[in-house]
Amino acid sequence: MRMVDLIIAKRAGTEHSKEEIDFLISGVMNGSIPDYQLSAWLMSVCWRGLSDRETAWLTDAMCHSGEVLDLSSVADVIGDKHSTGGVGDKTTLVFVPLLAAAGVPMAKLSGRGLGHTGGTIDKLEAIPGFNTSLSKEEFIKQVKQVSMAIAGQTQELAPADGKIYALRDVTGTVESIPLIAASVMSKKLAAGANLIILDVKAGRGAFMDTVDKAKNLAEVMVAVGKTLGKPVTAVVTDMEQPLGSAVGHTLEVIEAIETLKGNGPKDLTELCMALGSTALVTAGNVKDKDEARRKLQQLIDDGVALQYFEKLVKAQGGDVSVVDDYSIMPTAAATFEVKAEPNGKRWVKHLDGRKISAACKLMGAGRDKKGEPINLAVGVVLKAKVGSAIEGGAPLAVVHADSKAQFEAAKDKILSAFTFSETEVPETPLVKASVS
Ligand code: URA
Repeated sequence: MRMVDLIIAKRAGTEHSKEEIDFLISGVMNGSIPDYQLSAWLMSVCWRGLSDRETAWLTDAMCHSGEVLDLSSVADVIGDKHSTGGVGDKTTLVFVPLLAAAGVPMAKLSGRGLGHTGGTIDKLEAIPGFNTSLSKEEFIKQVKQVSMAIAGQTQELAPADGKIYALRDVTGTVESIPLIAASVMSKKLAAGANLIILDVKAGRGAFMDTVDKAKNLAEVMVAVGKTLGKPVTAVVTDMEQPLGSAVGHTLEVIEAIETLKGNGPKDLTELCMALGSTALVTAGNVKDKDEARRKLQQLIDDGVALQYFEKLVKAQGGDVSVVDDYSIMPTAAATFEVKAEPNGKRWVKHLDGRKISAACKLMGAGRDKKGEPINLAVGVVLKAKVGSAIEGGAPLAVVHADSKAQFEAAKDKILSAFTFSETEVPETPLVKASVS
């Protein structure tokens, strides 16, 4: 078999066999397929797609590129949650300790930034000492000891996804339903959880820009789960604008901690409640979603969820004082305000997360090349969201930058992310659909 033939076949839209998909993933793993051939194949998939069975075979091969964890000795129900990626999406940092506190142990494999979206692993690295490279044994031991762990791909768990993911990030090959489905599901199958909630983002800040496309991605992932014997629940949620107010690594960790303290933004808090109540009902820990929401709220109000976050940080070698002292994380040199034009009263109609993300990237918060270091300190805190009333000259955002020049580079992008209406703009619902 030759990789060039697979590229040509996929370019023509021909379906691969299971053997061909296995050949491809073993070539990725043993290094016999160079990045330029893999990139060409990924681009062909973006254009031609994969059939349902090709997607399932690819997922299975990626999952088995490393070890598949058996967590049955840890607990009967082990939870996991995965987002398909958005801007300002720090949900995992809240969700994992919150669910662990609610009695659902969480075993979570996460990724780094991808395309215009941020990654949980990069965000956690803003916490001094936090180790996201856990071996299989460390991962299992930690879930047993503190009921939760968050780790990045290693050579042990879904390593093929790690390699392909890093390449997709810098070759414009992220926005593909089968590639996203295989990437997400291979990690979920390898990490060994049996209660999996997928947060499929829909809107201009997501890889799927419409609810219909997001639903389609949700259906593909649910179908792959069924084919490979792991049922999953997918919730399609809004990404028409960034989630919460903070975009940027340190800033998002701060917002997640504030959410665990009960001071989170409304949309992020609501998303954690919506996904969390779905998980608790599926786990059978509560009789219905109302009871689940009350329980989750209580855990935040009593400070128990925050204590679990501290346990997580401590178990992974991080500095727990971060909870009270945000200045121990990488911090930008200065802050600058971006203000609205001095027009009359208007309402924010759209807020384009991709532009906010592009502004952060201009300041060094994203990668252009595989494995590049990124600036964890810079970012944007939004002062207005869709529906906010803006009087002329009011602040729209605060930019955390390392220099005035860096701020100037980002400012126009941030301003261009906002569009306004002369009349009031209603809020849009956060949860768009559920697929299981
Ligand atoms: N999250 C993943 O893990 N993979 C993707 O391809 C997109 C989002």
